[in-house]
Amino acid sequence: MEYKNTYNNINKNPIAFFDSGVGGLTVMNKVVKLLPNENRLYFGDTKNMPYGEKTEEQLLQYADEIFRFFERHNAKAVIMACNTTSAVTYEKLKNNYNFKIYPIIQSVCPVLANSGIKRLCVIATPATINSHAYSKEISKYNSEMEIFEISAPNWVRIVEEHRINQPQSILQVQEILEEVEKFSPDKIVLACTHYPYLMNVLKKFAPQEKFIDPAEYFAQIIKDDLTKNNLLNDKFEYEKFYVSSNPQNFVEASKMFYNVSKLPELISFKQSS
Ligand code: DGL
Repeated sequence: MEYKNTYNNINKNPIAFFDSGVGGLTVMNKVVKLLPNENRLYFGDTKNMPYGEKTEEQLLQYADEIFRFFERHNAKAVIMACNTTSAVTYEKLKNNYNFKIYPIIQSVCPVLANSGIKRLCVIATPATINSHAYSKEISKYNSEMEIFEISAPNWVRIVEEHRINQPQSILQVQEILEEVEKFSPDKIVLACTHYPYLMNVLKKFAPQEKFIDPAEYFAQIIKDDLTKNNLLNDKFEYEKFYVSSNPQNFVEASKMFYNVSKLPELISFKQSS
């Protein structure tokens, strides 16, 4: 992960997060606790949500537009707080920009691989599951672990449309967890950043201690790496939110994980379909 420093006071430049909507706030929440002095940007690509149902070509286009946007805003590091784009686009895009990029899957899999877990279940979006990114990354460090991967196609919309406690949503969570339990996993990775919003429902069907939110490891990895590279800021000055549609809905949907105090700015990239 090499990067070129083209600005004088780079430490003051923001760290930037993106995801398809409010999911990445589950990561930003943890990063801010460890790195409160960092200026930060957050881009929620609400217009193109859910990413998990998009093609590789579409995801490459969305991620590239957002990375270019962050370049124009002088980001010193970008946090791919989205499993789907980390799985599908990171390898193809990683050398194209002038900042450090932290992809969630590639960052946390070494930790999962060395955790001593024997049977691991990964729940994620269809695109992440089809890529087998988790099992491929973990097997680089540990070939013994048994991994069961399952997609939960509707869960992201449940969160974005604030339908978490509706009977139909609870049923859709239950159906997936019944499949998961057939595998008798030791631990279950919530491999989509939206899923921690569902914890109150998830824990009805499996013990809360069984779930792993990879953001727990990810935030520490980001802190350690920014520290090692002398990129830390000493004083927080600003945070800014951007979305590609419906700013008010973003504020509503985010409440469980982040206090978005100001309405996000609406951004439209001309070529997005
Ligand atoms: N929250 C993202 C992830 O971690 C994307 C979810 C989606 O939009 O499908 O995969």
